Amino acid sequence: MTTAPPRRAFALACWLLLLCIPAALAQSPGGAAAPFRTTDVSDSQAFLVRATRHTPARVDAAAIERLLRRMTLKEKIGQMTQLEIGMISDGVDANIHVNPEKLHKAVGEYGVGSILNVKDEALTLEQWHGYIRAIQAEAAKSRLKIPVLYGIDSIHGANYVKGSTLFPQPLGMAATWNPELALKSAEVTAAETRAAGIPWNFSPVLDIGRQPLWPRLWETYGEDPHLAKVMGVAMVRGYQGNDLASPDRVAACLKHYVGYSGPYSGHDRTPALLPEKTLREYYLPTFRAAIEAGAASVMINSGEVNGVPGHADHNLLTTVLRKELGFDGVAVSDWEDIKKLVTHHRVAADEKEATRIAVMAGIDMSMVPSDYSFADLLLQLVQERKVPMSRIDEAVRRILVMKARLGLFKDPALGIGGAIGSPASRALSLQAARESITLLKNERNVLPLARQARVLVTGPTADSLIALNNGWTYTWQGDRPQLYPGRPTILAAIKQKLGDANVAHVPADFQKGADLAAVTAAAQSADVIVLCLGESSYTETPGNIDDLSLPESQQRLASAAAATGKPVVLVLVEGRPRLIRSFADAMAGILLAYNPSNEGGTAVADVLFGDVDPSGRLPITYPRYPNALLTYDRKLAEDTDTSFGQKAFNAQFEFGAGLSYTSFAYSNLAVTPTSLPATGTVTVKATVRNSGQRAGAEVVQLYLRDRVASVTPSVRRLKRFAKVWLSPGESREVAFTLARDDFSFIGADNRPVVEPGEFDVFVGPLTSMVTITRAPASNQKEKKP
Ligand code: BGC
Repeated sequence: MTTAPPRRAFALACWLLLLCIPAALAQSPGGAAAPFRTTDVSDSQAFLVRATRHTPARVDAAAIERLLRRMTLKEKIGQMTQLEIGMISDGVDANIHVNPEKLHKAVGEYGVGSILNVKDEALTLEQWHGYIRAIQAEAAKSRLKIPVLYGIDSIHGANYVKGSTLFPQPLGMAATWNPELALKSAEVTAAETRAAGIPWNFSPVLDIGRQPLWPRLWETYGEDPHLAKVMGVAMVRGYQGNDLASPDRVAACLKHYVGYSGPYSGHDRTPALLPEKTLREYYLPTFRAAIEAGAASVMINSGEVNGVPGHADHNLLTTVLRKELGFDGVAVSDWEDIKKLVTHHRVAADEKEATRIAVMAGIDMSMVPSDYSFADLLLQLVQERKVPMSRIDEAVRRILVMKARLGLFKDPALGIGGAIGSPASRALSLQAARESITLLKNERNVLPLARQARVLVTGPTADSLIALNNGWTYTWQGDRPQLYPGRPTILAAIKQKLGDANVAHVPADFQKGADLAAVTAAAQSADVIVLCLGESSYTETPGNIDDLSLPESQQRLASAAAATGKPVVLVLVEGRPRLIRSFADAMAGILLAYNPSNEGGTAVADVLFGDVDPSGRLPITYPRYPNALLTYDRKLAEDTDTSFGQKAFNAQFEFGAGLSYTSFAYSNLAVTPTSLPATGTVTVKATVRNSGQRAGAEVVQLYLRDRVASVTPSVRRLKRFAKVWLSPGESREVAFTLARDDFSFIGADNRPVVEPGEFDVFVGPLTSMVTITRAPASNQKEKKP
């Protein structure tokens, strides 16, 4: 473990004491030395470089080739087939049990390479062990004894293993702007997934979150490529470590390559129209970065981009993914998506044609998942020479390499025996929840609330662990209350702080709202109303909406609460930014909690009562109007065209926003040199001081604005950030290094370009400028102005 310089170590110690975080947090699961401490002050780019660096363990390539040569065509195609758990079992939920005939057909006869998922509930560790052992025992009886690769969606912790540690959902994790924390959460998730005997995690979602209606926005790391890249690479490193064959690591799967998150209707799995320039500027960078960090697999976009379904897109799946991004891992389809080329997308007349298109486009493994059609049809296609053996060998080689890297040939049940749900992991989850909560409004310092306050708590998210967690929690939709462990909701956590006598509660329903007369009556004897609004759980198509506004019943409840004349603190628990324009001005305080998971009730109460200083910052733009859904990096015309009485774009809350209970002052912004030659770097320094009375954390954000460019420049682009913890009166100089690439954008020819000219530099409220000088003619990446 690295040691901190004394002063920083002291500040660190104070902060840890303040948060009451057990020292156990400094240890990674299993007690191994932690590569990064969660409280390091870290420049985002320095983190990215460190976390990208890895030395993949070597696999015995010759042994893989020998195995490949021994395989029959049927065995090879079996490896490319992935089935869901129901194909080898009977029953549902906790009553699921292996069906030996089904298992034999799948693994013994068809030799399937992979099995996935639950049906439909999370299982206990012991149930998983029974499953994995039975599957691998069947594989061991097969001719070549190739182990099966089990895959699962551990989206925010090992959410399909009962008793595991759950973390804030990814959007909340992004709001911490603390990649070290993300990395440590991924380490715990990896260890607890592998403890079940499962070596493959369908995470992280690296789709960029720029369409707020999309029902999977909360599975993303927000709208900005730099922030999402840093967080995504943190997750990959946390899942995979340096050696996938460790018993506490899993293979990451980058989802959903690429463009899935940009449907123009906002509905899941519907068409996106993304010019190549946009795709390259905003949608590809996260995947590129995570591939450089060594991600073992990708899952493909179920939707379509520019009229081409993700699973049929040879250009994106082979030319870009393989040749340009250099990805050499496994590309797995999403759920039933080869069939959907026929049923949904209509680019193939029948499933056989769809299978040919998808395999030739570059799919290595098909998540079929509920029959044997893929294996049967692909066998025919190869026999008819419509799919060459070389394509089959390429796919199977990648799958075998992944199994070898995961250590499955040596021990197909590797990881079984690991522990889950330790107090230290739970404390880490609490810390992440606390750091994610974003204070967006605090009129006349209504927050933090006094310990003696009499509080009325109401709203549908006040007493709901389901809302705190959202989808992918014990079930796909996260919707079964009986599966949740006994953890405090927001209401319970407030009661823990104040005692039952000082807390009144008026229950509310997501659809029906609350008894407004009861709210008005209860408010009479309260000093403050904590109004918890937002969404229940959802993901994918069940989460589609046509209106981003909060449901009317919740808006009515907000107005009724405001009409009591008592100060109202709004707590939003939601996976996407539901509009609050109609009542936001009447709220004294606004906290955005995202989906902070099982420790989220405690974290919200800690922030409400000032036990924790809020340090989350928005990873998305919070819109004000339903038809003005822009991102922070919009074009200047959106902000400046105010002719004819038009209003400029006006977000409810801007990307990067977030208040603290203390205040921060910025000074001494210095850019050196002020002109960047062809090679070399620019250093941007600024001093940030805690000018208030309490300890707190500031997220120092550095943005650039290209003043003139051949493609209309954005208002600003995030280039660096660092989260800085400061005690009252303490100041620190933060230094960032920018290289020439940081000034590049995707030009009209869809290639990155750096153009000479002036750039504004923004750090906090301070601005400066830097000039990019002309590069020598030999620099191919540069374009003449
Ligand atoms: C989702 C994926 C998920 C897969 C397996 C699909 O419906 O789109 O994100 O990994 O199911 O559960």
